[in-house]
Amino acid sequence: MLTEPERIQLARLDTPLESYAGVLPDRELLVKRDDLTGSGLSGNKIRKLEYLIAEALSHGCKRLVTCGGIQSNHCRATVLAAAKVGLEAKVYLRTNAPPRDATAYRGNLALMHMAGASIEFVDADWYAERDQNMSLNAVPHDYVIPEGGSNALGAWGYISAIAELHTQLQSKPSAIIVATGSGGTVAGIELGLRLYDMHDIPVYGVCACDDEPYFQQACSRITYEAHQIWPELDAIPPGQFKFIEGYVGLGYALSTPEEREELHCIMRRCGLVLDPVYTNKAFRALVHEPDRFGHQPLFIHTGGIFGLLA
Ligand SMILES: Cc1ncc(COP(=O)(O)O)c(C=O)c1O
Repeated sequence: MLTEPERIQLARLDTPLESYAGVLPDRELLVKRDDLTGSGLSGNKIRKLEYLIAEALSHGCKRLVTCGGIQSNHCRATVLAAAKVGLEAKVYLRTNAPPRDATAYRGNLALMHMAGASIEFVDADWYAERDQNMSLNAVPHDYVIPEGGSNALGAWGYISAIAELHTQLQSKPSAIIVATGSGGTVAGIELGLRLYDMHDIPVYGVCACDDEPYFQQACSRITYEAHQIWPELDAIPPGQFKFIEGYVGLGYALSTPEEREELHCIMRRCGLVLDPVYTNKAFRALVHEPDRFGHQPLFIHTGGIFGLLA
């Protein structure tokens, strides 16, 4: 029997499943509002952190350590969640141009600073070896969380999100579309769909960085790790995930004025606030290639609003 790992409550669940008519041509759009998992503690990362922080607490850890881009939603969520449960937080933030001082901090970075995180800026070379570097620098009672909270335990965030969705859906959507940054969300969704007998729903991860081969490996690796710990979960080989590459644009966290204008247009049309780094890139796939996703696509809104204010 599959035993769900220990979990603490951080997210406001169940998040709403909303229907939007008139946003995409001739079809209904379903939106799973995971941007509403909370305010500061918001977005997809909170679901993963419910499991990761439960483990940190059960191991008696005193500090959470993690890493991400300078405007990482995951790092911001980790810092605020740490404060909520009485832990300290250390974040390694990738940038080649650290801000001169805290007065120049914006968006997620400003929130991390205000919430008292220990912040260290690191360059791309350091970041390329992030797992090793975080472990080497860890002190006793640190709990190290990989980029994006994307490992086997973090994947449970979206296994349980699929259980939630299972109870909300009246019929099967024609596809699930979600932004992809480190792969843990897609890995969890695919594991969850297999577990709840819904694996005929195609899942499209829209790359916000990197490329399809990278994410095929990353997601597969997470499912193999999960399968080792919970044999009831499927080990999914690389090649069995679906990723869409064409929306990375200028690169991670970069967007053109046209892309920004599309984001504003969605806001004006239906009140959905997307973020420029992840969700707008994924939503653009829906807007530009609606036929690819069938008659009733389901978009998972993974949050990220503070990136819009960076
Ligand atoms: C707002 C938002 N959406 C989507 C993602 C992608 O999730 P994952 O890292 O699990 O692929 C992230 C983080 O990377 C994010 O911050």
